[in-house]
Amino acid sequence: MLEVRGLKKTYVSKGSEYIALRDVDLKVKKGEFVAVMGPSGSGKTTLLNCISGFIHADSGKILLDGVNILNINEDMLADVRQNKLGFVFQDYMLVNGLTVLENIFLPQIIAGKGLKGMEKITENLMQNFGIETIKNKYPSEISGGQKQRVAIARALANKPLVLLADEPTGNLDSKSSLAVIEAFMDAKKNFGATVFMVTHDAFAASHCDRVIALADGQIVNELVRNTSSREFLNDILTFMKGINSDVYDA
Ligand SMILES: Nc1ncnc2c1ncn2[C@@H]1O[C@H](COP(=O)(O)OP(=O)(O)OP(=O)(O)O)[C@@H](O)[C@H]1O
Ligand SMILES: [Mg+2]
Repeated sequence: MLEVRGLKKTYVSKGSEYIALRDVDLKVKKGEFVAVMGPSGSGKTTLLNCISGFIHADSGKILLDGVNILNINEDMLADVRQNKLGFVFQDYMLVNGLTVLENIFLPQIIAGKGLKGMEKITENLMQNFGIETIKNKYPSEISGGQKQRVAIARALANKPLVLLADEPTGNLDSKSSLAVIEAFMDAKKNFGATVFMVTHDAFAASHCDRVIALADGQIVNELVRNTSSREFLNDILTFMKGINSDVYDA
């Protein structure tokens, strides 16, 4: 589904170079829910932004269903972003002047869908994520957890190959975080979604199938969940404390 090979990214600022990604290789299977964790500055957002096509990697490959998106032209990349990828951000990025319903319609209108099809998909998504009762409200009138569930519904509307999320629970309290993580789990279970999520939150990561640990621009370990999320949380915390003891105080 998603495969990254030998990815390198160097930032140049004020004449000095900084290697943000050294040589990243990873694979995400269809229907898998994967978290990327690591200390601040380890390259998590850089990795996600390269996969998103927001920034251009120096070398390597990013294969999305076999197509190397580092090799395609701007028009094709725009099409990939619109139709093959779904985005969920820490600060929601909903359109404030549109209702919940209209926000979920928006990417579908841009993709040129007809009203009937749009209504059916949107209804189904809203039911799944428990946001039907707020469909006529504006983003300023709903909670952070609700906003993020609307953002997940919107990101799924065009049936992307992969859902990319950067710190989706970063602005939320623990109760709303759980509701958002459950929404990703529902996206996986009910819509077959593949989720690639960057997070600092070990609790959020403990609900994933796999955790990829990044440090200093390199993958340093991978933890596969084969126990309950509670036991997996302990494994993640133990491991992360080893990488950076002050970042991951539980
Ligand atoms: N546009 C940029 N120009 C120069 N350096 C950058 C730029 N963006 C990021 N960096 C540097 O690259 C490194 C990785 O940054 P990145 O944002 O990917 O880290 P991160 O793991 O997402 O951190 P955090 O957990 O704090 O969000 C950092 O050292 C950062 O200072
Ligand atoms: Mg980041």
